[in-house]
Amino acid sequence: MSNSQQSVSAPRARTVPAVRSRKVADGGDPLVMVTAYDAPGARIADEAGVDLILVGDSLAMVVLGYEDTLQVTIDDMAHHTAAVARAKPSALIVGDLPWLSYHVSTEDTVRNAAALIRAGAQCVKLEGGRKRLPMIEALVAAEIPVMGHLGLTPQSVNAMGGFKVQGKQTEAALELVAEAKALAHAGCFALVLEGVPDVVAAMVTAAVDVPTIGIGAGPHCDGQVLVYHDLLGIEDRVAPKFVRRYADQKADAVAAMAAYADDVRTGRFPSDAESYHVSDEVAESLELYGSTPPPGA
Ligand code: KIV
Repeated sequence: MSNSQQSVSAPRARTVPAVRSRKVADGGDPLVMVTAYDAPGARIADEAGVDLILVGDSLAMVVLGYEDTLQVTIDDMAHHTAAVARAKPSALIVGDLPWLSYHVSTEDTVRNAAALIRAGAQCVKLEGGRKRLPMIEALVAAEIPVMGHLGLTPQSVNAMGGFKVQGKQTEAALELVAEAKALAHAGCFALVLEGVPDVVAAMVTAAVDVPTIGIGAGPHCDGQVLVYHDLLGIEDRVAPKFVRRYADQKADAVAAMAAYADDVRTGRFPSDAESYHVSDEVAESLELYGSTPPPGA
């Protein structure tokens, strides 16, 4: 199959109700989600035909250079959500609630989620299981659609003792299924499953009537999500095994910058065609002042 045949896209789900009903078991196409953090990224994702753009708090690590996701604030997230929204993508924009923006009180949670909605998100995502039920219910009551996030939840990096695959033992796997059911029951319209064994993701997917979107969760989810910079190879650091790189943009960008530097240093840039000129008449009169090179020099 050629690339152009492959890129013929499935009908897109751009609304929350449309996403909510996209179960592969019911004949739906898998959902495609990718992160983006700015307008050009959103345009690239949208032109590629993704269903959902997640303005993820991975922003902290892949754009802002932090070691974990705990460093970004609701203001950071709103700033980047607004940049994505300005691209007016037809993909659904999911705003990620950062750490501590939904942990203190339901009032705080709704106010922070509203900041992302007002910045242009159509729904929000938050991490965690049963502990989050009051917050999820408050958001749903405020008409803010919520996507859940279970398994390896990066905002719990300190509590988990590192970025570790979750649900590997029987009890933990069954607990994950129970948490997923509780989140769906509370009104989450979709669930991200991160860093869980494939069979556990399959069990969760079969147990809930909302779509699961996996990252490091195997092929049996109702969709997949990857981080923009990982997918495009914008960084060359060692990536987790679930990352598939579809481009090597870091190497391409370094080669392009090096070529530019070489052209500047050797006088090949800018060329005559890349320079602005005055008319011959003006050039001649300027020559009288002795400070301009003759035309064409
Ligand atoms: O912030 C993020 O990029 C995420 C994805 C890994 C799901 O939450």
